[in-house]
Amino acid sequence: MAKYTIAWLPGDGIGKDVMDAARIVLDVLDLDAQYIPGDVGWEFWCTEGDALPPRTIELLKSTDCCLFGAITSKPKEEAARELAPELQGKGLVYFSPIVRIRQLLDLYTNMRPCKAYPGNPLNYRDDVDLVVVRENTEGLYSGVEFYPLPGEVRNALVKNHPKMARFAEVPADEIAISCRIFTRRGCRRIVRQAFDYAERFSRPSVTVVEKPNVIRETSGMMIREARDIAKEYPGIELWETNVDAMAMWLVKNPQDYSVLVSSNMFGDIISDLCAQLVGGLGFASSANIGDNYALFEPTHGSAPKYAGQHKVNPMAMLLTVKLMLDWLGEVDLAERLENAIAAVIAEGQVRTYDMGGTSSTLEVAEEVVRKL
Ligand code: NAI
Ligand code: MG
Repeated sequence: MAKYTIAWLPGDGIGKDVMDAARIVLDVLDLDAQYIPGDVGWEFWCTEGDALPPRTIELLKSTDCCLFGAITSKPKEEAARELAPELQGKGLVYFSPIVRIRQLLDLYTNMRPCKAYPGNPLNYRDDVDLVVVRENTEGLYSGVEFYPLPGEVRNALVKNHPKMARFAEVPADEIAISCRIFTRRGCRRIVRQAFDYAERFSRPSVTVVEKPNVIRETSGMMIREARDIAKEYPGIELWETNVDAMAMWLVKNPQDYSVLVSSNMFGDIISDLCAQLVGGLGFASSANIGDNYALFEPTHGSAPKYAGQHKVNPMAMLLTVKLMLDWLGEVDLAERLENAIAAVIAEGQVRTYDMGGTSSTLEVAEEVVRKL
């Protein structure tokens, strides 16, 4: 028996290309793991009416963690049209597999390190080293939304909140509401993840990015809980920044910040900004972490126009593998991999097109292997 069993889900398009690169590196690192391939993605939507078949969910439940490539998703009407003829007209609805997995396995932390490796021509500055810790299951992405607005919901709001009075007469089909739902437990556990990470990797500060002066109740709860949890970590400073100002500071002085923690939507936006500071989609790694399971995926999608060409940058995926090794507790392997990645970037000889080079996905992986 191998020490770890890892669900191996390449998915669609360049997901497969970058997973090929990941495998080259993992095999040379000799991680004591068994990789079990699983079905996920567009093909399974078209042929089975389910992009995340039940057997794949079982696979996730029986493994230690998952490495995931990317998936293709398409708007509702297009998705319905591409279903196999025998599945059409049955009312099947496409749901994003990745969102389903996050909710199903309660992977409440989305972690996105954004580090500028010296020599990367795509760096905004060379001294950026940020980690965005984003709440992954609640907030404005909870999915509790109303349109048209049901009378009962409106009446309850008018009755319970004076500020709702000015919306009392808007016709039901001219008003939409999306709920921003925070729980105390949700706030506490995401802030704790940020502080635990800061402690483990000797980070000086955690910045909570919200907007409590305006969104008083939800952002207010996050800040209150952050202050409370910060007391347990005396060596780490808690900074509080409004999300709009944060966008400016991240462009002006990104080097001042270390660990950022935020709710679902603000974290989503801020993490894309941070990713672009260090080279964009070709470098953006991510982890979805719960208490007992984690799924690791590069931030980019399936980039259909490059599918199967082994052309795209595998660095985002290789940095994602590094995150997985860290999470598994294989810190020496994680460090070796990161050093090798950094060396390849610094030398600048083997680069994919996005970095101005002509090397292939697999040539970059082979070069990383040479530096291990
Ligand atoms: P995308 O991330 O797939 O690609 C956008 C563009 O970014 C590409 O055309 C390419 O120029 C560049 N790019 C992406 N990854 C790169 C890499 N590793 N190296 C170099 N350049 C890279 O986003 P797009 O085109 O909006 O979406 C394509 C499909 O992927 C859609 O079906 C979308 O729904 C899906 N998607 C899936 C995600 C996931 O699996 N988590 C995330 C984002 C999009
Ligand atoms: Mg995003």
